[in-house]
Amino acid sequence: MNGDTKKEIYREALRELDAVLADVDDPITAMATCASVLHQKLPYASWTGFYRVVAPRLLRVGPYQGPLGCLEISFDRGVCGAAARQRATQLVPDVHAFAGHIACDAAARSEIVIPIYDPRGELVAVLDLDSHQPAAFDDDDREGLERIAERLRPSLGGDRAAFYIP
Ligand code: SME
Repeated sequence: MNGDTKKEIYREALRELDAVLADVDDPITAMATCASVLHQKLPYASWTGFYRVVAPRLLRVGPYQGPLGCLEISFDRGVCGAAARQRATQLVPDVHAFAGHIACDAAARSEIVIPIYDPRGELVAVLDLDSHQPAAFDDDDREGLERIAERLRPSLGGDRAAFYIP
């Protein structure tokens, strides 16, 4: 898929989320809607969804689309743990070359994980996308997904029970 097509997909996804999340402040609704929109639009994504921060260094699976994901991931483990620990996007072209990658799906080859913040700037989740294609994700995905993470932020403040907030 060329860069222009990806950019257009992310523009459309953002437009759709802007419209549908306009009055939403329920984080489960926001995350479920986002997972659906992205998974439908990105043909190279095999798993699209959220891991929520539920304890100081623990992620638990949230709304997602795709095959069964791991239920819990500690901040010490995997690509998701690295994104949460470092509070930085992880772009992994080859999951087999990433020390500590957690293989929930044996067919997964590449992955991108974006930190997700609430309206107060607390890390509350990570957004994880996996692909069966090697190097499926690039800087266009990083840019598009980071923009979507910003859009989600105001919709993540309504239900404190969805996350652990210090
Ligand atoms: N591969 C991820 C785990 C989550 S799933 O693949 C859905 C990781 O290493 O963090």
